[in-house]
Amino acid sequence: MKRLLKGGTLVDPANGRTGPFDILIDGDRIGRVGRSLAAGADTAVVELPGGLLVCPGLIDMHVHLREPGQEHKETVATGTAAAVAGGFTAVACMPNTDPVIDNASIVGYVLRKAADANLARVYPIGAVSRGQKGEQLADIAEMRQAGCVALTDDGRPVATSMLMRRALEYAGMFGMPIIEHCEDPSLKGDGVAHEGPTASSLGLRGIPGEAESIMALRDISLAGLTGGAVHIAHMSARQTLDAVRWGKARGARVTCEVTPHHFVLTDAQLAEPVPYDTNVKMNPPLRQVEDRDAMLGGLADGSIDAIATDHAPHHADEKLVEFDRAPFGIIGLETAVSLCFDRLVHPGVISTSRLVELLSVNPARLLGVPGGALVEGAPADISILAPDLPVTVSAARMRSRSRNTPFDGWTLRGGVAATIVGGRTVYLNPACGDLGI
Ligand code: DOR
Repeated sequence: MKRLLKGGTLVDPANGRTGPFDILIDGDRIGRVGRSLAAGADTAVVELPGGLLVCPGLIDMHVHLREPGQEHKETVATGTAAAVAGGFTAVACMPNTDPVIDNASIVGYVLRKAADANLARVYPIGAVSRGQKGEQLADIAEMRQAGCVALTDDGRPVATSMLMRRALEYAGMFGMPIIEHCEDPSLKGDGVAHEGPTASSLGLRGIPGEAESIMALRDISLAGLTGGAVHIAHMSARQTLDAVRWGKARGARVTCEVTPHHFVLTDAQLAEPVPYDTNVKMNPPLRQVEDRDAMLGGLADGSIDAIATDHAPHHADEKLVEFDRAPFGIIGLETAVSLCFDRLVHPGVISTSRLVELLSVNPARLLGVPGGALVEGAPADISILAPDLPVTVSAARMRSRSRNTPFDGWTLRGGVAATIVGGRTVYLNPACGDLGI
Protein backbone atom coordinates (compact mmCIF):
# COMPACT_ATOMS: atom_id res chain seq x y z
CA MET A 1 0.00 0.00 0.00
CA LYS A 2 1.25 3.47 -0.84
CA ARG A 3 0.90 6.24 1.75
CA LEU A 4 0.27 9.88 0.90
CA LEU A 5 1.30 12.25 3.70
CA LYS A 6 -0.72 15.45 3.64
CA GLY A 7 -1.02 18.41 5.95
CA GLY A 8 2.60 18.74 7.00
CA THR A 9 5.05 21.49 6.13
CA LEU A 10 7.83 20.13 3.93
CA VAL A 11 11.29 21.45 4.78
CA ASP A 12 13.59 20.41 1.94
CA PRO A 13 16.21 23.13 1.53
CA ALA A 14 18.36 21.08 -0.85
CA ASN A 15 15.53 21.32 -3.38
CA GLY A 16 14.51 24.84 -2.36
CA ARG A 17 11.14 23.49 -1.26
CA THR A 18 9.59 24.60 2.00
CA GLY A 19 5.84 24.76 2.47
CA PRO A 20 2.62 22.79 2.19
CA PHE A 21 3.77 19.95 -0.06
CA ASP A 22 2.43 16.38 0.02
CA ILE A 23 4.73 13.40 -0.11
CA LEU A 24 3.90 9.95 -1.44
CA ILE A 25 5.70 6.97 0.09
CA ASP A 26 5.73 4.09 -2.36
CA GLY A 27 7.12 0.99 -0.62
CA ASP A 28 10.63 1.84 0.52
CA ARG A 29 10.96 4.86 -1.79
CA ILE A 30 9.69 8.40 -2.14
CA GLY A 31 7.10 8.20 -4.92
CA ARG A 32 6.25 11.84 -5.48
CA VAL A 33 6.52 15.24 -3.85
CA GLY A 34 4.10 17.97 -4.88
CA ARG A 35 1.26 20.26 -3.95
CA SER A 36 -2.23 18.79 -3.47
CA LEU A 37 -1.35 15.36 -4.84
CA ALA A 38 -4.33 13.13 -5.68
CA ALA A 39 -4.40 9.66 -4.09
CA GLY A 40 -4.84 6.62 -6.32
CA ALA A 41 -7.04 3.68 -5.34
CA ASP A 42 -3.97 1.88 -3.96
CA THR A 43 -3.00 4.76 -1.67
CA ALA A 44 -3.83 5.42 1.98
CA VAL A 45 -4.10 9.11 2.76
CA VAL A 46 -2.50 10.24 6.02
CA GLU A 47 -3.68 13.64 7.24
CA LEU A 48 -0.96 14.94 9.54
CA PRO A 49 -2.03 17.35 12.25
CA GLY A 50 -1.14 20.97 11.45
CA GLY A 51 2.26 22.26 12.45
CA LEU A 52 4.34 19.16 11.82
CA LEU A 53 7.49 19.46 9.71
CA VAL A 54 8.31 16.77 7.14
CA CYS A 55 12.07 16.70 6.59
CA PRO A 56 14.69 14.59 4.87
CA GLY A 57 15.96 12.06 7.41
CA LEU A 58 18.25 13.57 10.02
CA ILE A 59 21.81 12.22 10.05
CA ASP A 60 23.99 12.34 13.17
CA MET A 61 27.55 12.22 11.94
CA HIS A 62 29.18 11.70 15.35
CA VAL A 63 27.90 8.83 17.48
CA HIS A 64 29.63 6.30 19.73
CA LEU A 65 27.77 2.99 19.44
CA ARG A 66 30.41 1.22 21.61
CA GLU A 67 30.14 -2.10 19.80
CA PRO A 68 32.27 -4.18 19.66
CA GLY A 69 33.61 -4.41 23.17
CA GLN A 70 31.74 -1.98 25.39
CA GLU A 71 28.25 -3.39 25.20
CA HIS A 72 27.58 -2.45 28.82
CA LYS A 73 27.49 1.20 27.64
CA GLU A 74 25.62 0.81 24.34
CA THR A 75 25.12 -1.59 21.46
CA VAL A 76 24.37 -1.00 17.82
CA ALA A 77 20.79 -2.09 18.60
CA THR A 78 20.25 0.21 21.61
CA GLY A 79 22.13 3.09 19.98
CA THR A 80 20.08 2.93 16.79
CA ALA A 81 16.89 2.65 18.86
CA ALA A 82 17.97 5.88 20.58
CA ALA A 83 18.76 7.38 17.19
CA VAL A 84 15.32 6.82 15.69
CA ALA A 85 13.64 8.01 18.90
CA GLY A 86 15.70 11.16 18.46
CA GLY A 87 14.51 11.64 14.88
CA PHE A 88 17.67 10.35 13.20
CA THR A 89 17.33 8.00 10.25
CA ALA A 90 21.10 7.47 10.05
CA VAL A 91 24.16 7.73 12.25
CA ALA A 92 27.88 7.60 11.57
CA CYS A 93 29.65 5.65 14.31
CA MET A 94 33.05 6.25 15.79
CA PRO A 95 35.86 3.69 15.78
CA ASN A 96 37.09 3.98 19.39
CA THR A 97 35.60 0.59 20.19
CA ASP A 98 37.36 -2.47 21.59
CA PRO A 99 38.85 -3.64 19.29
CA VAL A 100 39.14 -0.43 17.33
CA ILE A 101 37.34 -0.26 13.97
CA ASP A 102 40.54 -0.29 11.93
CA ASN A 103 39.99 -3.10 9.42
CA ALA A 104 37.35 -4.45 7.07
CA SER A 105 36.24 -7.33 9.26
CA ILE A 106 35.21 -5.05 12.13
CA VAL A 107 33.49 -2.68 9.71
CA GLY A 108 31.56 -5.71 8.45
CA TYR A 109 30.72 -6.74 12.02
CA VAL A 110 29.21 -3.34 12.81
CA LEU A 111 27.24 -3.35 9.56
CA ARG A 112 25.86 -6.82 10.33
CA LYS A 113 24.77 -5.64 13.77
CA ALA A 114 23.08 -2.65 12.14
CA ALA A 115 21.29 -4.90 9.67
CA ASP A 116 20.10 -7.12 12.56
CA ALA A 117 18.81 -4.09 14.49
CA ASN A 118 17.09 -2.81 11.33
CA LEU A 119 16.39 0.67 12.72
CA ALA A 120 18.60 3.61 11.70
CA ARG A 121 21.15 3.28 8.92
CA VAL A 122 24.69 3.01 10.26
CA TYR A 123 27.76 4.37 8.49
CA PRO A 124 30.97 3.23 10.17
CA ILE A 125 33.86 5.63 10.46
CA GLY A 126 37.22 3.87 10.43
CA ALA A 127 40.31 4.67 12.46
CA VAL A 128 43.04 6.76 10.86
CA SER A 129 45.74 4.71 12.56
CA ARG A 130 45.98 1.05 13.50
CA GLY A 131 44.50 0.60 16.94
CA GLN A 132 44.21 4.41 17.06
CA LYS A 133 47.80 4.30 18.28
CA GLY A 134 48.95 7.17 16.10
CA GLU A 135 51.77 5.18 14.48
CA GLN A 136 50.83 3.49 11.20
CA LEU A 137 47.91 4.26 8.91
CA ALA A 138 45.08 1.74 9.25
CA ASP A 139 43.86 -0.35 6.30
CA ILE A 140 42.10 2.55 4.67
CA ALA A 141 41.39 1.10 1.22
CA GLU A 142 39.88 -2.12 2.55
CA MET A 143 37.80 -0.23 5.13
CA ARG A 144 36.49 2.01 2.37
CA GLN A 145 35.54 -1.04 0.35
CA ALA A 146 33.82 -2.56 3.37
CA GLY A 147 31.63 0.53 3.78
CA CYS A 148 33.50 3.19 5.80
CA VAL A 149 32.55 6.74 4.94
CA ALA A 150 35.24 8.72 6.80
CA LEU A 151 38.26 8.29 9.05
CA THR A 152 39.07 9.53 12.53
CA ASP A 153 41.12 8.75 15.62
CA ASP A 154 38.34 10.39 17.67
CA GLY A 155 38.76 10.31 21.39
CA ARG A 156 42.21 11.63 20.57
CA PRO A 157 43.78 13.69 17.76
CA VAL A 158 45.78 12.26 14.86
CA ALA A 159 49.08 11.95 16.66
CA THR A 160 51.56 13.71 14.39
CA SER A 161 51.57 16.22 11.56
CA MET A 162 53.15 13.67 9.25
CA LEU A 163 50.53 11.03 9.95
CA MET A 164 47.80 13.63 9.37
CA ARG A 165 49.44 14.67 6.11
CA ARG A 166 49.53 11.08 4.88
CA ALA A 167 45.98 10.40 6.07
CA LEU A 168 44.66 13.46 4.21
CA GLU A 169 46.52 12.45 1.06
CA TYR A 170 45.43 8.83 1.16
CA ALA A 171 41.83 9.36 2.31
CA GLY A 172 41.54 12.04 -0.34
CA MET A 173 42.14 9.39 -3.02
CA PHE A 174 38.99 7.67 -1.80
CA GLY A 175 36.99 10.85 -1.40
CA MET A 176 36.84 10.48 2.38
CA PRO A 177 37.24 13.29 4.91
CA ILE A 178 39.38 13.02 8.02
CA ILE A 179 37.25 13.87 11.05
CA GLU A 180 39.55 15.37 13.63
CA HIS A 181 39.27 15.46 17.39
CA CYS A 182 41.31 18.63 17.82
CA GLU A 183 43.38 18.58 20.95
CA ASP A 184 47.00 19.38 21.66
CA PRO A 185 47.81 16.62 24.18
CA SER A 186 50.61 18.56 25.86
CA LEU A 187 48.37 21.57 26.42
CA LYS A 188 45.41 19.50 27.52
CA GLY A 189 47.60 17.55 29.92
CA ASP A 190 45.44 15.91 32.53
CA GLY A 191 42.86 18.71 32.45
CA VAL A 192 39.25 17.81 33.09
CA ALA A 193 37.34 21.07 32.57
CA HIS A 194 37.57 24.36 30.71
CA GLU A 195 40.42 26.49 32.04
CA GLY A 196 38.83 29.50 33.70
CA PRO A 197 37.50 30.93 36.95
CA THR A 198 34.89 28.19 37.42
CA ALA A 199 37.39 25.33 37.17
CA SER A 200 39.80 27.23 39.42
CA SER A 201 37.18 27.84 42.07
CA LEU A 202 36.32 24.14 42.09
CA GLY A 203 39.94 23.02 42.09
CA LEU A 204 39.64 21.29 38.71
CA ARG A 205 42.56 21.18 36.28
CA GLY A 206 41.88 23.28 33.20
CA ILE A 207 42.00 22.78 29.44
CA PRO A 208 42.32 26.06 27.51
CA GLY A 209 40.44 26.67 24.26
CA GLU A 210 43.83 26.93 22.59
CA ALA A 211 44.37 23.19 23.13
CA GLU A 212 41.68 22.79 20.48
CA SER A 213 42.44 25.70 18.17
CA ILE A 214 46.18 24.99 17.90
CA MET A 215 45.43 21.50 16.58
CA ALA A 216 42.73 22.86 14.28
CA LEU A 217 45.25 25.29 12.79
CA ARG A 218 47.69 22.44 12.17
CA ASP A 219 45.04 20.37 10.47
CA ILE A 220 43.61 23.20 8.39
CA SER A 221 47.14 24.03 7.23
CA LEU A 222 47.66 20.40 6.22
CA ALA A 223 44.32 20.32 4.41
CA GLY A 224 45.63 23.31 2.45
CA LEU A 225 48.93 21.54 1.75
CA THR A 226 47.40 18.26 0.63
CA GLY A 227 44.06 19.29 -0.86
CA GLY A 228 42.44 16.77 1.50
CA ALA A 229 39.26 17.44 3.47
CA VAL A 230 39.36 17.88 7.23
CA HIS A 231 36.23 18.05 9.34
CA ILE A 232 36.64 19.50 12.82
CA ALA A 233 34.59 17.45 15.28
CA HIS A 234 32.72 18.78 18.33
CA MET A 235 34.06 22.32 18.09
CA SER A 236 33.89 24.11 21.42
CA ALA A 237 36.21 27.14 21.48
CA ARG A 238 35.77 30.52 19.83
CA GLN A 239 39.42 30.43 18.73
CA THR A 240 38.70 27.24 16.77
CA LEU A 241 35.79 28.86 14.97
CA ASP A 242 38.15 31.73 14.03
CA ALA A 243 40.56 29.13 12.66
CA VAL A 244 37.81 27.47 10.62
CA ARG A 245 36.75 30.82 9.18
CA TRP A 246 40.37 31.58 8.31
CA GLY A 247 40.73 28.22 6.56
CA LYS A 248 37.50 28.58 4.64
CA ALA A 249 38.43 32.10 3.55
CA ARG A 250 41.68 30.86 2.03
CA GLY A 251 40.02 27.94 0.27
CA ALA A 252 41.13 25.02 2.45
CA ARG A 253 38.72 22.09 2.52
CA VAL A 254 37.67 22.49 6.14
CA THR A 255 34.26 21.95 7.67
CA CYS A 256 33.10 21.70 11.26
CA GLU A 257 30.36 20.52 13.58
CA VAL A 258 29.10 21.65 16.96
CA THR A 259 27.21 19.62 19.56
CA PRO A 260 24.00 20.72 21.24
CA HIS A 261 25.74 20.74 24.63
CA HIS A 262 28.35 23.19 23.38
CA PHE A 263 25.76 25.64 22.06
CA VAL A 264 23.44 25.28 25.09
CA LEU A 265 25.62 24.88 28.20
CA THR A 266 28.64 26.65 29.66
CA ASP A 267 31.22 25.79 32.31
CA ALA A 268 28.92 27.43 34.88
CA GLN A 269 27.20 24.03 34.85
CA LEU A 270 30.22 22.58 36.68
CA ALA A 271 29.24 24.44 39.83
CA GLU A 272 25.44 24.34 39.63
CA PRO A 273 22.81 23.04 40.02
CA VAL A 274 24.90 20.01 41.09
CA PRO A 275 28.58 20.77 41.70
CA TYR A 276 31.02 18.28 40.20
CA ASP A 277 28.25 16.56 38.23
CA THR A 278 30.10 14.06 36.04
CA ASN A 279 27.30 14.38 33.47
CA VAL A 280 28.80 17.71 32.48
CA LYS A 281 32.23 16.19 31.97
CA MET A 282 33.01 15.80 28.32
CA ASN A 283 35.89 16.31 25.94
CA PRO A 284 36.17 19.01 24.72
CA PRO A 285 34.78 20.59 27.88
CA LEU A 286 31.90 23.02 28.23
CA ARG A 287 33.41 26.45 27.78
CA GLN A 288 32.64 30.05 28.69
CA VAL A 289 29.66 32.14 27.67
CA GLU A 290 31.79 33.85 24.99
CA ASP A 291 32.54 30.48 23.40
CA ARG A 292 28.94 29.30 23.60
CA ASP A 293 27.80 32.57 22.01
CA ALA A 294 30.43 32.22 19.28
CA MET A 295 28.97 28.79 18.45
CA LEU A 296 25.50 30.35 18.17
CA GLY A 297 26.99 33.00 15.88
CA GLY A 298 28.62 30.35 13.68
CA LEU A 299 25.37 28.42 13.43
CA ALA A 300 23.52 31.57 12.43
CA ASP A 301 26.02 32.92 9.89
CA GLY A 302 26.77 29.65 8.09
CA SER A 303 30.35 29.13 9.30
CA ILE A 304 29.34 25.92 11.08
CA ASP A 305 28.40 23.10 8.73
CA ALA A 306 26.70 20.54 10.95
CA ILE A 307 25.17 19.78 14.31
CA ALA A 308 26.28 16.39 15.64
CA THR A 309 25.65 14.95 19.08
CA ASP A 310 28.93 13.21 20.04
CA HIS A 311 26.57 10.72 21.72
CA ALA A 312 29.03 9.16 24.19
CA PRO A 313 27.30 6.63 26.44
CA HIS A 314 28.96 5.57 29.69
CA HIS A 315 27.58 3.23 32.34
CA ALA A 316 26.21 4.81 35.52
CA ASP A 317 28.84 3.01 37.60
CA GLU A 318 31.61 4.54 35.50
CA LYS A 319 30.20 8.04 35.93
CA LEU A 320 29.42 7.63 39.63
CA VAL A 321 32.96 8.47 40.75
CA GLU A 322 34.94 11.62 41.55
CA PHE A 323 34.87 14.21 38.74
CA ASP A 324 38.58 13.69 38.05
CA ARG A 325 38.18 9.97 37.52
CA ALA A 326 34.96 9.89 35.48
CA PRO A 327 35.15 9.22 31.74
CA PHE A 328 34.46 12.10 29.34
CA GLY A 329 31.17 12.15 27.45
CA ILE A 330 27.39 12.43 27.53
CA ILE A 331 24.57 10.91 25.51
CA GLY A 332 22.84 13.16 23.01
CA LEU A 333 20.74 11.34 20.43
CA GLU A 334 17.42 11.68 22.24
CA THR A 335 17.73 15.33 23.26
CA ALA A 336 19.29 16.95 20.17
CA VAL A 337 16.15 17.87 18.24
CA SER A 338 14.41 19.35 21.30
CA LEU A 339 17.48 21.39 22.21
CA CYS A 340 17.76 22.64 18.62
CA PHE A 341 14.15 23.81 18.51
CA ASP A 342 14.18 25.29 21.99
CA ARG A 343 17.56 27.06 21.79
CA LEU A 344 18.01 27.76 18.09
CA VAL A 345 14.75 27.86 16.16
CA HIS A 346 12.30 29.35 18.67
CA PRO A 347 14.62 32.16 19.82
CA GLY A 348 15.21 33.02 16.14
CA VAL A 349 18.90 32.09 15.95
CA ILE A 350 18.27 29.92 12.85
CA SER A 351 15.35 29.04 10.58
CA THR A 352 13.88 25.56 10.20
CA SER A 353 15.50 25.32 6.74
CA ARG A 354 18.89 26.02 8.25
CA LEU A 355 18.18 23.45 10.95
CA VAL A 356 17.58 20.81 8.28
CA GLU A 357 20.74 21.91 6.50
CA LEU A 358 22.73 21.40 9.71
CA LEU A 359 21.14 18.07 10.66
CA SER A 360 20.57 16.46 7.28
CA VAL A 361 21.71 18.19 4.08
CA ASN A 362 25.26 18.93 5.16
CA PRO A 363 25.97 15.69 7.09
CA ALA A 364 24.89 13.73 3.97
CA ARG A 365 27.14 15.84 1.76
CA LEU A 366 30.14 15.74 4.12
CA LEU A 367 30.00 11.98 4.48
CA GLY A 368 29.05 11.37 0.84
CA VAL A 369 26.05 9.26 1.84
CA PRO A 370 22.52 9.22 0.41
CA GLY A 371 19.90 11.51 1.90
CA GLY A 372 19.71 15.16 2.80
CA ALA A 373 16.91 15.78 0.28
CA LEU A 374 13.44 14.47 -0.48
CA VAL A 375 13.98 13.15 -3.98
CA GLU A 376 11.51 11.09 -5.98
CA GLY A 377 12.86 7.55 -6.34
CA ALA A 378 15.24 7.87 -3.39
CA PRO A 379 14.87 5.77 -0.21
CA ALA A 380 12.03 7.13 1.94
CA ASP A 381 14.10 8.30 4.92
CA ILE A 382 11.93 10.96 6.52
CA SER A 383 11.91 12.69 9.91
CA ILE A 384 8.65 14.23 11.05
CA LEU A 385 9.27 16.91 13.64
CA ALA A 386 6.89 18.63 16.04
CA PRO A 387 8.31 22.11 16.68
CA ASP A 388 5.83 23.04 19.39
CA LEU A 389 5.61 19.73 21.25
CA PRO A 390 6.24 20.24 24.98
CA VAL A 391 8.95 17.78 26.00
CA THR A 392 10.19 16.87 29.45
CA VAL A 393 13.49 15.04 29.16
CA SER A 394 13.51 11.77 31.07
CA ALA A 395 16.79 9.89 31.22
CA ALA A 396 15.01 6.88 32.72
CA ARG A 397 12.78 6.55 29.66
CA MET A 398 15.50 6.79 27.05
CA ARG A 399 16.23 4.03 24.54
CA SER A 400 19.96 4.37 25.01
CA ARG A 401 21.56 1.82 27.32
CA SER A 402 23.20 4.68 29.23
CA ARG A 403 21.70 7.58 31.18
CA ASN A 404 24.52 10.09 31.27
CA THR A 405 22.75 13.27 30.29
CA PRO A 406 22.84 16.67 31.99
CA PHE A 407 19.40 17.48 30.54
CA ASP A 408 17.35 15.08 32.69
CA GLY A 409 14.17 16.84 33.82
CA TRP A 410 14.56 19.80 31.45
CA THR A 411 11.40 21.03 29.78
CA LEU A 412 11.87 22.03 26.17
CA ARG A 413 9.65 23.12 23.30
CA GLY A 414 9.95 20.92 20.22
CA GLY A 415 10.47 17.25 19.54
CA VAL A 416 10.17 14.31 17.21
CA ALA A 417 6.80 13.00 15.99
CA ALA A 418 7.92 10.07 13.83
CA THR A 419 10.91 8.58 12.08
CA ILE A 420 10.64 6.70 8.80
CA VAL A 421 13.55 4.67 7.41
CA GLY A 422 13.24 3.13 3.96
CA GLY A 423 9.48 3.67 4.07
CA ARG A 424 9.09 1.88 7.42
CA THR A 425 7.89 3.79 10.46
CA VAL A 426 10.56 2.90 13.00
CA TYR A 427 9.53 5.40 15.65
CA LEU A 428 6.24 7.02 16.57
CA ASN A 429 6.08 9.40 19.50
CA PRO A 430 3.07 8.46 21.64
CA ALA A 431 2.84 12.10 22.76
CA CYS A 432 1.79 13.03 19.20
CA GLY A 433 -1.20 10.68 19.15
CA ASP A 434 -1.92 8.13 16.45
CA LEU A 435 -0.61 9.75 13.28
CA GLY A 436 -1.76 6.83 11.19
CA ILE A 437 1.60 6.22 9.58
O1 DOR B 1 33.50 13.34 25.62
C1 DOR B 1 33.97 12.56 24.82
N1 DOR B 1 33.66 11.25 24.86
N2 DOR B 1 34.80 13.01 23.88
C2 DOR B 1 35.44 12.19 23.04
O2 DOR B 1 36.17 12.66 22.21
C3 DOR B 1 35.28 10.73 23.17
C4 DOR B 1 34.02 10.39 23.80
C5 DOR B 1 33.91 8.95 24.22
O3 DOR B 1 34.29 8.07 23.44
O4 DOR B 1 33.44 8.69 25.31
